[in-house]
Amino acid sequence: MCGIVGVVGLQDCAETLLDSLKRLEYRGYDSSGIVTRAAEGFVMNRAVGKLGALSATMRDRPLSGRSGLGHTRWATHGGVSERNAHPHIANNKVAIVHNGIIENHAALRDELRAAGHEFASETDSEVLAHLFLAAFDQGMSAQEAGAAVLSQIEGTFALAAMHVDHPDMMIVARNASPLAIGLGDGASFVGSDAIALAPLTRNVIYLKDNDFAIVTPDSAQIFDAAGVSVHREVVIVAASQGMVDKGGFRHFMEKEIHEQPDAIAHTLAAMTGTDGTLSTPLSRDDLQAIDGIVMLAAGTSHYAAMVARYWIEALARVPVSCEIASEYRYRKPVTGAFTTAIAISQSGESLDTLMAMRHAGEAGLRTVGLVNVPESTIAREASLVMPTRAGPEIGVASTKAFIAQLTALICFAAALAEARGSIDAQRRDEIHEHIRGLPSIIGRTLGLFDDIRPLAHSLTTARSALYLGRDVLFPVAMEGALKLKELSYIHAEGFASGEMKHGPIALIEEGLPVIALLAADEVMGKAASNLQEASARGARIILVTEERAAHVVDFADQVITVPNVDPLLAPLLLTVPVQILAYLTAFEKGTDVDQPRNLAKSVTVE
Ligand code: M6R
Repeated sequence: MCGIVGVVGLQDCAETLLDSLKRLEYRGYDSSGIVTRAAEGFVMNRAVGKLGALSATMRDRPLSGRSGLGHTRWATHGGVSERNAHPHIANNKVAIVHNGIIENHAALRDELRAAGHEFASETDSEVLAHLFLAAFDQGMSAQEAGAAVLSQIEGTFALAAMHVDHPDMMIVARNASPLAIGLGDGASFVGSDAIALAPLTRNVIYLKDNDFAIVTPDSAQIFDAAGVSVHREVVIVAASQGMVDKGGFRHFMEKEIHEQPDAIAHTLAAMTGTDGTLSTPLSRDDLQAIDGIVMLAAGTSHYAAMVARYWIEALARVPVSCEIASEYRYRKPVTGAFTTAIAISQSGESLDTLMAMRHAGEAGLRTVGLVNVPESTIAREASLVMPTRAGPEIGVASTKAFIAQLTALICFAAALAEARGSIDAQRRDEIHEHIRGLPSIIGRTLGLFDDIRPLAHSLTTARSALYLGRDVLFPVAMEGALKLKELSYIHAEGFASGEMKHGPIALIEEGLPVIALLAADEVMGKAASNLQEASARGARIILVTEERAAHVVDFADQVITVPNVDPLLAPLLLTVPVQILAYLTAFEKGTDVDQPRNLAKSVTVE
């Protein structure tokens, strides 16, 4: 995680750096800092906490200069403090910012200390500043210094370094962590992603792993790990400036919940062929050749995968394995039964998911990236991309991206099933028609904010809450619990309701809130019995269900209903009230909804 930015060749670049950092704050917000090369040498401001703290410091102590670096930090090595905040400066000569983890930092630090280098922070990143310093002090050119530093470090990194004697030059490099170079008119930029560069330029170069580049106001010279000059394509990105606007809502999350009808409609459009039927980026032959699917994802995206497993197995009769990406990448999975790996990621940058996808690719599986950010690393590395079109998601808690992932996955399941002959074209078109109706139905569920507010208020004092669901609603229960815990810091767990009696029911005590998800599906009766068992032991049942199923749990303490829908689509519809509940509970508690503690939007470290 962490976001990095850099500018070379722009008058009074500090303001631009700060503005770009605002666009990257989703990557971490433990501390931030900016350094510029002013007339007197490097000048720097750093502050602990969210970017507002740095903005205030910058107002009190403006920084001048045409070139500089900025950083927003998600702490890995070293606590959250000003001295651990980036940029790091070595001997007033070299300034660096870094995203990632330098795994051999301890050994490098010992060597550098032995050679007389003094360190000011506890971070792994600071060794980079000293390695560059040592290289330049030995009289190396920028190209030689870049190659020398890269040859010594192990781990993941996106880094940018400046030397005080080369005010209009920056050395940048990456391995596994994302980095984009933006080419402007008389100035160049670097950033962790194209969003950071959106208002500055649309001409972007993405470095490959272990590339480094020497960036000047009018050029970017790129070298591979061996130091050989290489060409990397300039891509025109579609990023727009208006993407970080709250549009009149109090929080990005509130706005993004309201954008879900559009997220579904746009994603559906991307999954509809020119003949108007459901379509996927895989050809019919490709679909017919799929014998088994491994889904690789983390967090909310993993829950989307779990929902999809029910759909794909039921409709297409294709086996699906859902893997937590961070576990899969170090396993020695037996892949014989699987032909395809689908990496699901909103950001397309989650390092765990990227590495798991590479692992699957190396094992011979065809890789498909289901991503929301088209310029992301997973999108660029997957052999095929299946896009979600949720638009930029800024709130740390994923909402509209999840709904868009589910939309793409139900479309994929139906298209796969039809191509493989397990459903006919008529059933596929029927499912398509139901999905088409979803934006307006979901639009109606957005009216639930007022109904849910008192419930949210009552949850603010809860120490714990359980979410229960059965069958395809089990992953939605886990997603609901994740939303509550990450936003309001209330302990919450999602369970398969049939599993309660095998242990978790011991947690039930008088008044424990149990958020119960129920649809009018094949398991409705059994799910209702499981809720009865919880209610009988004193749980306070908060039923979230379709209108036609509400009567089945006539013992519920509170009921939230959504419109009736085809049982296949119930996960999409029942997700919305649990998102609203988590949002309003956090709002009532006064936590930071868009930037909850300890989290970051895009997790690019292991
Ligand atoms: O960008 P990704 O979909 O790969 O992110 C995966 C998770 O980090 C993400 O879903 C996380 O769990 C969110 N905070 C959930 O709201």
